[in-house]
Amino acid sequence: MEIVHLTQITDLHLGVDASATLGGIPTQASFEAVLGAVDQQGRGKDRLILTGDLASDCQPAAYQRLNRLLKVHNKQAVWLPGNHDKAEVMAEYLVDYPYQSVTELGAWGLLTLDSSQSSKPGGHISDKQLRHVEQGLETLLTDFILVAMHHSPVLLHSAWLDTQQIDNHHRLYELLHASGRVKAVITGHVHQQFEGHWGDIPIYSAPSSCVQFKQQSDEFALSDEPPGYRWLDLYPDGHIVTGVEFLSDFHPRPNLSCAGY
Ligand SMILES: [Fe+2]
Repeated sequence: MEIVHLTQITDLHLGVDASATLGGIPTQASFEAVLGAVDQQGRGKDRLILTGDLASDCQPAAYQRLNRLLKVHNKQAVWLPGNHDKAEVMAEYLVDYPYQSVTELGAWGLLTLDSSQSSKPGGHISDKQLRHVEQGLETLLTDFILVAMHHSPVLLHSAWLDTQQIDNHHRLYELLHASGRVKAVITGHVHQQFEGHWGDIPIYSAPSSCVQFKQQSDEFALSDEPPGYRWLDLYPDGHIVTGVEFLSDFHPRPNLSCAGY
């Protein structure tokens, strides 16, 4: 079996038109620059996994433009919602990319879930989503599983972000751990590179395709790191090689006095 090549792009925060910005960064331009960097790295044929906050406020026009950009760039993509998205609106407007809760990729299965809750920024796994995870683990007959979700189940030692940790992460962990096949979890939401462990399960977060949050800051603050993404190579023996790339030639810089988003 072959190595599965994935690229995680997260927290695009696309707005109602192409000129929309977040923290001073034009989010569509930065997303397109990330796609260009992925091509330059020789990973242009990777399947994309888009881990939420694809729009800044679940605008249909943002999803329509994302759908068009993915088509123009001839991408295969799997997505899941973040707290700035609405899954039903995404499903309606990402017309060429129907939601896939499970995807079989050779020896690997990809399981996506929705950790968002309406009108709250923090993460929660609803009973419906827990059943969805149970069903997904049964449906996937692959040797190994990668789980993708928006929110982090672990603390990042950043007080304001840590209040948004998935509040019932223990229940989800029990399910994933009991399967014995979940080799890693990837998340978005935290707008920063992170590698750690959730119990026995390796966990990885990716930088946003637009602005990054300052690491280990107790209050909201932006960092001056450029847009980025994470790549993952999933090997047929169950091991993963992964890394993060930041764009070196993207010139708009974030407004570090931005007080919120
Ligand atoms: Fe975000």
